[in-house]
Amino acid sequence: MQRILITGGAGFLGSHLCERLLEQGHEVLCVDNFYTGRRQNVAHLVDNPRFELMRHDVTFPLYVEVDAIYNLACPASPVHYQFDPVQTTKTSVHGAINMLGLAKRVRARILQASTSEVYGDPEVHPQREEYWGRVNPIGPRSCYDEGKRCAETLFFDYFRQHALDIKVARIFNTYGPRMHPNDGRVVSNFIVQALQGKDITIFGDGNQTRSFCYVDDLIEAMIRLMGTEKGFTGPVNIGNPGEFTIRQLAELVIELTGAKSKLISMPLPTDDPKQRQPDIGLARSKLQWEPKVPLVEGLKRTIAYFAALLK
Ligand SMILES: NC(=O)c1ccc[n+]([C@@H]2O[C@H](COP(=O)([O-])OP(=O)(O)OC[C@H]3O[C@@H](n4cnc5c(N)ncnc54)[C@H](O)[C@@H]3O)[C@@H](O)[C@H]2O)c1
Repeated sequence: MQRILITGGAGFLGSHLCERLLEQGHEVLCVDNFYTGRRQNVAHLVDNPRFELMRHDVTFPLYVEVDAIYNLACPASPVHYQFDPVQTTKTSVHGAINMLGLAKRVRARILQASTSEVYGDPEVHPQREEYWGRVNPIGPRSCYDEGKRCAETLFFDYFRQHALDIKVARIFNTYGPRMHPNDGRVVSNFIVQALQGKDITIFGDGNQTRSFCYVDDLIEAMIRLMGTEKGFTGPVNIGNPGEFTIRQLAELVIELTGAKSKLISMPLPTDDPKQRQPDIGLARSKLQWEPKVPLVEGLKRTIAYFAALLK
């Protein structure tokens, strides 16, 4: 049994991670400032004596005794991270400094939830970990992309300078129950629009592609990465390489919800990547992992969650 800190633990991914680590018998300290996360996401865990929920903003130092840290705190969707972009950069950068400082003090292993956004609008496809990315440093997405890039830099400098036991996961689009219903992410958007009988808005012509990983698969990979030997740092791409156009996703959601929604085209937002697909060769060989939940199955579970939520 380990004492494990999860920052951003009341968020979408964080709440699933809390759940899984408790199931494995660990003690979990869930830290969140509830910026985009919700108490509801972990309400079913609070009676567990091995679970503790703490309101705290990671841009301030934290003094606790733990064996391992998963650093997930950061708003993840454009709507939320662009609402207060200065705070987004602070959360990524000061948050990383504070959590790395904590890991150094207590000699804890620490994993960073990084993102495929570090690749920006990529010229290579699919993206491998060696690719340095093509990121606009001054655009509306930069607070998130550059904040996450700087956090990776800090992780690797703590590794080189202080021999810290770090792991970096580059997470690609993930979906599932407990996504925020109004965060503008494509899967939740489409499902909520369909369930409310509204038309589905797609940006551009809908031919841009994305790959979608179901949350259970993602959590499994994060835990496996945390369990790799000291010295293996990543970064490791985690995502589902199955590629779908946004239009295909919309049509699938309409079919599975039985909605009568039509597809409506809207202008493409600035710096919206045209293609994004992970190369998961490293995760396959190093973590013996690959995603198992097909899109149709994952969508059914996510639709069931939103249908209950919207009732
Ligand atoms: N879901 C995805 O597809 C995806 C893809 C790439 C990377 N990620 C990364 O995974 C992590 C979790 O994402 P998510 O999808 O669960 O998003 P989320 O918004 O549901 O979760 C983020 C959590 O961090 C908390 N938080 C934000 N700022 C904080 C602060 N200053 N102090 C303490 N807590 C704070 C929020 O309240 C929320 O609970 C993020 O770091 C995100 O960048 C997610």
